[in-house]
Amino acid sequence: MTIEQQGRLYLVGVGPGDPELMTFKAIKVLEASPVWIAPKAQKNGSSSALQIAAGLVSVDDKEVLELHFPMKKVHLNQQADAELVNSWKDAADHVLKHLNNGIDVAFPTLGDPALYSTAFYLLAAIEEQCESIKVTIVPGITAMAACSAKIGNPLGLGDDVVTIVPAAFDDDRLRDILNTFDAVVLMKVYKKMARVVELLDEMGLTDKAVLIERCGLPDQQIYTDIRTAVGKDLHYFSTLLIRKKQVVM
Ligand SMILES: C[S@@+](CC[C@H](N)C(=O)[O-])C[C@H]1O[C@@H](n2cnc3c(N)ncnc32)[C@H](O)[C@@H]1O
Repeated sequence: MTIEQQGRLYLVGVGPGDPELMTFKAIKVLEASPVWIAPKAQKNGSSSALQIAAGLVSVDDKEVLELHFPMKKVHLNQQADAELVNSWKDAADHVLKHLNNGIDVAFPTLGDPALYSTAFYLLAAIEEQCESIKVTIVPGITAMAACSAKIGNPLGLGDDVVTIVPAAFDDDRLRDILNTFDAVVLMKVYKKMARVVELLDEMGLTDKAVLIERCGLPDQQIYTDIRTAVGKDLHYFSTLLIRKKQVVM
C-alpha cells in the first residue's frame, strides 16, 4: 500500500475535562474518524480522554478501542520500562492495522498532545515500525491553561520566566527550580503534596501557590490554602500553580 492509500492518524487534544473546552477542530476530526483508540491509565478503568470526547461527539457509529498504558515514569535517553514499551508497541500495532486498511484513526488525549501525553510515545512506536505515516496533531487546551483561567491568575506575565515540572523530581532539583524561576507549574502532584508543601513552607512560597483538582469537572476543588490539601486523597488531575511576582502600579 502506498502512503497516499493509507489512513491518517490524528492525535487529538481534547482539553482537561470540560467537553466544552474541546476545540472546534478536535470535534470535527473526532466526528470524521471512524476508529478511535483511546488511552486509559488503569487496566480495569476507563479512558478519561474518551469520556471527554464522548461528551460532545457521539460514539454510536465509531469503532472504539481503549488501551491500557501503565502509569510509569519515563526518563528520556534511558531505556524505558519494558511493560510500558510493550503497551506503546501494542497500541502502534492496532493503529497501523487500521491505517494500512485505509482507515483514519483518532487518538484522543487529555489536554494537549504536546505536553506529557502518551500520544508522542505512540507516535514514536509507530515510526519505529513504519518510516512514514500520515499524521495530524490537533492541539488542545492544556490543564495548566484551564487551571490558570479558573483561578484568574496568569501563568506568566511581564518578565516572568515560567517552567513546567512533572512533580516527580527529588527535593533538591525542585528547590533549585523554585529558586530560579518566577512561576512554576507542578503537574502530577497528587501524591506529593506533603513533600511539596513542606518545601514551599521552607522557602516562604506556600502563599504563592494554588492547587486545582479536577479543573472544570463537576467535583472540582480549588485549594487557595494548599496546606489543607495535605493528607487528602487527591485525584491524579491535580495541578499546582506557583507565581512569585505581582504587578506593581
Ligand atoms: C499526563 S499529564 C497530561 C497533561 C495534558 N496533556 C495537558 O496538556 O495538560 C496529567 C496531569 O495533567 C494535569 N491535569 C490534567 N487534567 C487536569 C484537570 N482537569 N485539573 C487539574 N489538573 C489536570 C495534572 O497535573 C495531571 O497529573
